[in-house]
Amino acid sequence: MCGIIGYTGPRAAVPILIDGLKRLEYRGYDSAGLAVVADGRLSEVKAVGKVHQLEEALAAHAGLEEKSGCGIAHTRWATHGAPSTPNAHPHLDESGQIAIVHNGIIENYQELRRYLEGKGCHFRSQTDSEVIANLIAEAYEGDLLAATAATLEQLNGTYGIAVVSVRHPGLIVTARKGSPIVIGIGKGENLVASDVAALLAHTREVIYLDDGDIAVVTADRIDLRNVKNVPVEREIAKIDWDMGAAEKGNFPHFMLKEIFEQPETIENAIRGRIDHSMGTAVLAGMNLSPRELATISRIVIAGCGSSLHAGMLGEYYFEDIAGVSTSVEQAAEFRYRNPIIEPNTLVIPISQSGETADTIAAVREASAKGGVVTALCNVVGSTIAREAGRGIYLHAGPEISVASTKAFSSQVVVLLLYALMLGRNRRLSRSDGEELAREIEAVPGLIREVLREAPKIKEIADRYARFEDFFFIGRGCLYPTALEGALKLKEISYIHAEGYHAAELKHGPISLLDERHPVLALANDIPGKDKIIGNIQECRARKSPVVAVVTRGDSSVVKMTDDVIEIPPCSRFIAPLPTVVALQLFAYYVAVARGCEVDQPRNLAKSVTVE
Ligand code: AGP
Repeated sequence: MCGIIGYTGPRAAVPILIDGLKRLEYRGYDSAGLAVVADGRLSEVKAVGKVHQLEEALAAHAGLEEKSGCGIAHTRWATHGAPSTPNAHPHLDESGQIAIVHNGIIENYQELRRYLEGKGCHFRSQTDSEVIANLIAEAYEGDLLAATAATLEQLNGTYGIAVVSVRHPGLIVTARKGSPIVIGIGKGENLVASDVAALLAHTREVIYLDDGDIAVVTADRIDLRNVKNVPVEREIAKIDWDMGAAEKGNFPHFMLKEIFEQPETIENAIRGRIDHSMGTAVLAGMNLSPRELATISRIVIAGCGSSLHAGMLGEYYFEDIAGVSTSVEQAAEFRYRNPIIEPNTLVIPISQSGETADTIAAVREASAKGGVVTALCNVVGSTIAREAGRGIYLHAGPEISVASTKAFSSQVVVLLLYALMLGRNRRLSRSDGEELAREIEAVPGLIREVLREAPKIKEIADRYARFEDFFFIGRGCLYPTALEGALKLKEISYIHAEGYHAAELKHGPISLLDERHPVLALANDIPGKDKIIGNIQECRARKSPVVAVVTRGDSSVVKMTDDVIEIPPCSRFIAPLPTVVALQLFAYYVAVARGCEVDQPRNLAKSVTVE
């Protein structure tokens, strides 16, 4: 997620902007920049990397740090266009009179860019955001608010923006739709930010903009309008957070914050990627025509850890939905075993960081053998994203916690979209495709229902935190889900948790079962439930405590378990998503109960860049 800070008032703007960016640093980003209007000039400074790189770049702008006036600044988490100085915000219009910073995704930016280029506009970056600056310049007739409002009406997608102009010293225009903006009320000064964390050093009185709101902010005035350009009053909120809490949005750990972000991050993964008129998915970064896709005869998925588990779900989706033969490989195995890859083999490396050494090697092996490589990554411009050359970004925002949660669920959703598109490229009918598209769009709502169960899941987790061994079992799409749930538990609570196919227990592992070995059984009401009921009875017969995940309202399992976690009804393809959120919460609360360092577990790194 990117960060925005703006200031207008009598103090020097640059130090306030830099301090604000540092308070947004925890969100993770790859570049930063600022723009200041002072002494009749608009100055812009940008740098790739951390805020201290931006401070070093400021050295070339002697005197700028002392200037009072108004300014805006931004930390960028790349969604369109690799991390680079030209792609960093702020973006200026071609004449250099207007500067904007933007959080969000503009779905129709290519169309808008072509329109502006057709009128002779030249762009400096690969970003979607830059179109906003040039559209405002085109609409500007002396009123920056009116020009900004007219521009926002042309945008499809989401935005949180701040705008300054050399023609309006001391004035900031800000607006939001789908990406948060908060105004900080100072004494003889005012601020704008994407996150309260950037404001707390200056004020604790803030106004949260609603979607559609737009405002003119000066040192002594806040003129707030709604989407109909009608002046509105918004409540002034008083913030009593401490600074540390604000950085995690009042969550005790990044992992919990990222678990709770999943409805929004999955909405971001889906946004602009479903075509209801054709009952299919539209994945722009694939750069493969329907004819090229139709020649694919086999799919090989490669990944590690949670990304491997997501890939295992992809195997079910690609075979069952799209009818394409698919296999999944641990990337380290794939890179060394001399795999068979033909010209019509589609290779899909999956990697949140885009920097996992084994998965990078798998990309290189697949490319060397002439495979068609399309990557699933979260980090724009990462090594895997660049070397694959084609792919789909997750748009999940920075995943700070070492344990992957929101990236995993976004990987699964993108794989569902991918299978939908491939299915419609083959035998999936438009009506069946439309039905699946609607099921995918309903996922954020299902996850919100599971998140409301968090207190109950915590109560269960607190009672099981004392165990030192756990089994997670599932069938069908819930088998990779069981593996992911076991990984979550072991990596943050240090409990020895094993994921197994439910049918596999009786082939040996069942010898371990006794009252010290609880089993978490995924018994959602989807095909295979009757078989897993048998597996649960086998576990109970060995005195293992059983926690079952069940479909809400399904009482057939309750009487044979010690505890149940209820999941809203959904199809077998969708079931892994609300289920894994329950397992993420279970693992999180067990780890907290055991006093573990949840966000940075011992021995682990967020990205395994070595073999
Ligand atoms: C998952 O919680 C772990 N942090 C780890 O298994 C991770 O999924 C794995 O290292 C792969 O990382 P990547 O997705 O960045 O390639």
